[in-house]
Amino acid sequence: MQSITLIGYMCVGKTTVGKALAKELGITFYDLDWYIEERFHTKVARIFAEEGEERFRDLERRMLHEVAEFENIVLSCGGGTPCHFDNMAYLNSVSQTFYLEATPETILQHLSMSRGERPLLKGKSPEELRTFVKQQLEERRPFYQQAQHHVCVDVLDSFDKIGFVTNNIKELLQGHSPMR
Ligand code: S3P
Repeated sequence: MQSITLIGYMCVGKTTVGKALAKELGITFYDLDWYIEERFHTKVARIFAEEGEERFRDLERRMLHEVAEFENIVLSCGGGTPCHFDNMAYLNSVSQTFYLEATPETILQHLSMSRGERPLLKGKSPEELRTFVKQQLEERRPFYQQAQHHVCVDVLDSFDKIGFVTNNIKELLQGHSPMR
């Protein structure tokens, strides 16, 4: 089976859905941010703070190519991964890509409950956050929309809904290529 890549804006549930999906399919889950953190023994937030976004994007691209060598995995990307370099075209060429699509309202709701450190959103007031998320989502959407499959995750307001999303993904996969 070709690997599966999940893309989409921060806080749409890529990691949560990715972990559940990998478990259901009996294959290995990778989160690109976690992979970077383990590989370099540091936090993504720290790379942003100490070396800047440009350096992070370089590392991210290199690590994306490294992880994509692994066969038969579910990979959850960072929100910005598909929007830099030729990453989106690359992902489409090596995996089945799924855009986890959510409205700004869903994203803002998830963000308010999230404990993760997100350097791009740090220090923003609720109003600034709303404006930033809406605008960045508009800018990024053309990249996300290049994914081979689109899955709405606005239903993801509780854990019992994760199965609904993973089932959608599995149905799309079956329609596309034979599952083993
Ligand atoms: C980023 C998203 C983050 C992480 C970094 C940059 C982005 O990952 O890669 O903070 O540019 O959207 P998540 O989408 O997993 O939060």
